[in-house]
Amino acid sequence: MSEEKQVKVHVDKVNKSYGDNHVLRDISLDVNQNEVVVMIGPSGSGKSTFLRMLNQLEKPDSGVIQVDKYDISDPKTDINKVRENIGMVFQNFNLFNNYTVLENITLAPVQLGKMSKEEAKKKAHELLEMVGLPDKADVSVNSLSGGQKQRIAIARALAMNPDVMLFDEPTSALDPEVVGDVLDVMKNLAQSGMTMIIVTHEMGFAKQVADRVVFFESGKIQESGSPEQIFNAPKNARLQSFLSKVMEA
Ligand SMILES: Nc1ncnc2c1ncn2[C@@H]1O[C@H](COP(=O)(O)OP(=O)(O)OP(=O)(O)O)[C@@H](O)[C@H]1O
Ligand SMILES: [Mg+2]
Repeated sequence: MSEEKQVKVHVDKVNKSYGDNHVLRDISLDVNQNEVVVMIGPSGSGKSTFLRMLNQLEKPDSGVIQVDKYDISDPKTDINKVRENIGMVFQNFNLFNNYTVLENITLAPVQLGKMSKEEAKKKAHELLEMVGLPDKADVSVNSLSGGQKQRIAIARALAMNPDVMLFDEPTSALDPEVVGDVLDVMKNLAQSGMTMIIVTHEMGFAKQVADRVVFFESGKIQESGSPEQIFNAPKNARLQSFLSKVMEA
């Protein structure tokens, strides 16, 4: 029996404009369960808009978006149910700074009735272990470094037991010396089989961790393929030019 790949995220011919600015043009992309897709491309090419649409922080003008069995482009779909299964990590953490680490991680699963307070605490301690910050449960988020905050933001997203994790430039706001700590957590997560879609400028990380690299430019997927193909044998002229700029930086 051949093993069927399970499509976790299905995007078909999605378009999005802000006024006259046609930001996403007929984007189609399928992401399989356990797959790690890294999105690269110049500023303004539509990467964040695309990720935000997967979580319905933005609505597409046309096209189909399915996450698991849910059609999130259908207005009848309960988007809160879908969102519970999609974890999102942003450049600027979006944590509650005046709360403790434990409060940040346990808040959503308890409030949404996914877990009892005790279960959520137990899970939070496991996640803190996983992100390498087991002794930070009771400190205020205020007191943490950027790299620590981002690892807490990842733990918070994982507390909901998501099926898919979205990352929008998770290391761009960090001091260079702590970027590796966050990337290591993401590598472990990838190895554990999490389905991940990651926007990043960390090309070394992309080469190492991505199953597939997708190049966005001018609101289109100009090329996609294995890291070897994208980095060693890019076909698209705009991708070649983009890589020559980021690689010399
Ligand atoms: N809420 C909004 N209202 C109006 N225009 C927007 C909005 N969000 C994004 N845009 C525009 O959409 C285009 C794509 O932006 P987006 O943030 O998706 O790009 P990006 O590829 O993530 O860029 P960067 O690498 O700088 O993060 C840009 O021209 C941007 O100005
Ligand atoms: Mg962006």
